[in-house]
Amino acid sequence: MIEKINNLTNVIENLTANNNEEVEALRIKYLSKKGEITALFNDFRDVPNEQKREIGQKLNQLRNLAQEKIKSLKDTFENTDFSIQEIDLTRPCDPIEIGTRHPLSLIRNEIVDIFSKLGFVLAEGPEIEDDWHVFEALNFPAEHPARDMQDTFFIEKNPDVLLRTHTSSVQTRVMTTQKPPIRVICPGRVYRNEAISYRAHCFFHQIEGLYIDKNVSFADLKQALLYFTKEMFGEKTQIRLRPSYFPFTEPSAEMDISCDLCGGKGCAFCKHTGWVEIMGCGMVDPNVLDLCGIDSKEYSGYAFGFGVERIANLKYRVKDLRMFSENDVRFLKQFKSSR
Ligand code: PHE
Repeated sequence: MIEKINNLTNVIENLTANNNEEVEALRIKYLSKKGEITALFNDFRDVPNEQKREIGQKLNQLRNLAQEKIKSLKDTFENTDFSIQEIDLTRPCDPIEIGTRHPLSLIRNEIVDIFSKLGFVLAEGPEIEDDWHVFEALNFPAEHPARDMQDTFFIEKNPDVLLRTHTSSVQTRVMTTQKPPIRVICPGRVYRNEAISYRAHCFFHQIEGLYIDKNVSFADLKQALLYFTKEMFGEKTQIRLRPSYFPFTEPSAEMDISCDLCGGKGCAFCKHTGWVEIMGCGMVDPNVLDLCGIDSKEYSGYAFGFGVERIANLKYRVKDLRMFSENDVRFLKQFKSSR
């Protein structure tokens, strides 16, 4: 009897099955009414009393082992059946939220794209600059108010180190390192020591354009800006150039575009003038060319610069400038684009 039990224990331990039916066949073979283990329990009646304790224990262990083994075999197949039946792989999943581009990046990319169609290539420069690149090389007289502590963030220990106040510093960097023809578009962040309000911030973004070649004229500048305006704001939009002053351009101008809110008739947005100011521009001052190592007798050029926030405001009518830097997702996710 003991030998039979030991043999069967061995067999049971090594049982395998390939599917549910085979498991059921094993159950019948060993545990059903006519099964081999049940038969041993029947034989148990004839075991002499003094052996009943030992053999009884072994028989119970064998039956438990067989029940567990069959259950675990059954589980492996039922689990796979379960995964096939219960998990519907065709069900749609929870929506995955993907981020959106920042409105200022959208505008920046759009502007860079427009100018790249005119052959302008991207150029960038450092935000932490020195006095020469931001002011000196751009013809700023020593007493110019833009150098004043009010406007510029200087580093206390070294007044030669400052945060650039305009992207015109990238002009200087490009002119001192490249030879004409130069045609660059330079987006970047700039800093000014201003009180923060709904219409001013201590940092904002500008885009600078610079074109230097032989015989570049004011007419070329006007044509490039007109093309940009129509691409950016629509075919109907008009431009107007007003004389202005910048130390680094001569002549200088301020460009206005016709107000698309009132169609030029005059409204609160355009302060009842029908025009909104969007950028500064002009012919690069020959003195600046010479300071940057470009022969002003041989070359001429134009430059323009404008604020990205201002263009974004015109496009999106954002009333408070501060929203651009608060990063409130409810604001940011309203701006969707494929780029
Ligand atoms: N740098 C000027 C500003 O910050 C803009 C400008 C750029 C004007 C290039 C003329 C030419 O206001």
